[in-house]
Amino acid sequence: MVKKGVQRILLCGFMGCGKTSVGQALAFRLKWDFLDTDAMIEKRQGISIPEIFAQQGEEAFRKMEEETACSLGKRKNTVISTGGGFLMREQTLQALRENGGGFESVVLLDCSFETCYQRIKNSDRPLVRNNTKEQLEQIFLQRQQRYREAADVVVSNEGIVSQTVEAILKEVPIL
Ligand code: S3P
Repeated sequence: MVKKGVQRILLCGFMGCGKTSVGQALAFRLKWDFLDTDAMIEKRQGISIPEIFAQQGEEAFRKMEEETACSLGKRKNTVISTGGGFLMREQTLQALRENGGGFESVVLLDCSFETCYQRIKNSDRPLVRNNTKEQLEQIFLQRQQRYREAADVVVSNEGIVSQTVEAILKEVPIL
């Protein structure tokens, strides 16, 4: 249950839905800090996400995501962009909710698979490199219910980033 006076916004959604660009713009608009869970993991590990997947495997990466959720503590006035698989683990979502104490809002950036795919198809993301377009679409479809269950608010990000930022600010009860 989100309380009034949200102090922390988490952006979730599939790869390519725009979590990082919207997150940065939203943090700038609110004069809040911005964090990116993928960047936090890369910094802590000292290697890139493709290297983590190649050297340690996906399961190890998911554990790192859970640890990152715990390490966020009770930090306030922060926009956090999460990796596309971040909220798939129940423990990770629970850690976020416990730390947030009800003053966090999880925002799903909603985009069609085709929009996401056009944005990610040439990237070095491990899931993109290791799956066909059809397999990626299956992963996209499998995740939709979970994203929607985890989210407090769903906002479309098919258009202009600044419009998405304003739509989030309308929906999220920040004092
Ligand atoms: C992943 C999404 C990526 C990154 C990793 C795995 C996923 O983040 O965490 O490659 O499982 O969807 P972005 O959603 O920021 O691309």
